[in-house]
Amino acid sequence: MRCRECGSEHEPARLSVCPECLGPLDAFYDYREVDWSEASLSRRPRSIWRYRELLPLLDPRKAVDLGAGFTPLRRADRLAKELGLEELYLKDDTVNPTYSFKDRPASVAVSKAMELGYGVVGCASTGNLAAATAAHSAKAGLPCYVFIPKGIEGTKVSQAIAYGARIIRVSGTYDEANAAASRAAERFGWALVNINVRPYYVEGSKSLAFEVCEQLGWEAPDHVIVPIGSGALLNAIAKGFGELRDLGLIEGRGPKISGAQGLGCSPVVDAFKSGRDYIEPVEAPNTIAKSLAIGDPGDGIYALRRIRDSGGRAEAASDAEIAEAIRLLGRTEGLFAEPAGAVTVAALKKLIAAGAVGRDERVVCYITGNGLKAPDAVAPSEADITDIGHDLEISAAEISGVGDWRR
Ligand SMILES: Cc1ncc(COP(=O)(O)O)c(C=O)c1O
Ligand SMILES: [Zn+2]
Repeated sequence: MRCRECGSEHEPARLSVCPECLGPLDAFYDYREVDWSEASLSRRPRSIWRYRELLPLLDPRKAVDLGAGFTPLRRADRLAKELGLEELYLKDDTVNPTYSFKDRPASVAVSKAMELGYGVVGCASTGNLAAATAAHSAKAGLPCYVFIPKGIEGTKVSQAIAYGARIIRVSGTYDEANAAASRAAERFGWALVNINVRPYYVEGSKSLAFEVCEQLGWEAPDHVIVPIGSGALLNAIAKGFGELRDLGLIEGRGPKISGAQGLGCSPVVDAFKSGRDYIEPVEAPNTIAKSLAIGDPGDGIYALRRIRDSGGRAEAASDAEIAEAIRLLGRTEGLFAEPAGAVTVAALKKLIAAGAVGRDERVVCYITGNGLKAPDAVAPSEADITDIGHDLEISAAEISGVGDWRR
């Protein structure tokens, strides 16, 4: 492990931050061991564990693997046409084992917690990580405690309960749930995947860069759009592209990386747009992208730097714009995303309008969570339903306009 601030190096032990300066730690590897030739990869699992040389487990055979990752990269021609792009892809992480990208970091973190000899795992969560950690802890046979704020989607809590987790709910924001979780980890010696196992946890999400390049025949896209909550995901994807470049597996400087947030909680976008190099926390987040409602993002500052270094942008979308993007994605490509997933499509639309994404760029939108987790975002309105009561003969007037609405 290497400290991102002071550069000191440490053994991959029970470390959550740099013991010398309290800075964040990044994993690094013996890059000479990497053999990602077609012959080698074709014999590997179709999950994040196919990239085992760049995942922080000493013995990858002991990975807790529910099959996270290796999700489809879908070419999205109908959506591209609607947005005015030539080449657009959707990285469809809605089909992971617990239906969000969080299975990637949870698989790595629960595996690492076992390797480090922890007997209890858990997390602080805006919803998706709760389900992902609970499922992987079930597979590992470890008890699991998840700390959640008030007001997150009931579906996500139900998922975590079904996987056998104990829910600990704080009457406040995510940031408060996170603080409570940190104290519990210290007091009881638990492995909380996104807190004291964070340096290992974040490594799981890098696979979102590896897979996209493998699926494009080891070419990098020109531009990727990534949702931001804590900023860990965007930062990890950037690290992944950087590792591929260092390994010579992709050419050029790597894609521009743009970040997307909900307008009611957009501390990283605000910092980007006002040219600041620090994050001003949002006191009371309010967005339908509840998974992204983190007022004081732990990796926000690093996500901001990654965006700027890559030549990308940051954009926020209102609740209405996100809801419209969910429907746009659904009706053009047959893909149902939750608000935190579709926010990338909403942001992309605005970035194209602003000229920040070129029409000839090869673009990848990360769709990180499944719409069935937050169905209220497309609660049916009068306009969606033709109610025919008990009169089973449909008149022409009743279906007039049908066929237009799909476009
Ligand atoms: C569906 C979804 N997308 C994106 C994110 C953002 O990830 P991060 O908090 O690592 O920035 C989250 C976080 O919970 C999420 O649930
Ligand atoms: Zn340090």
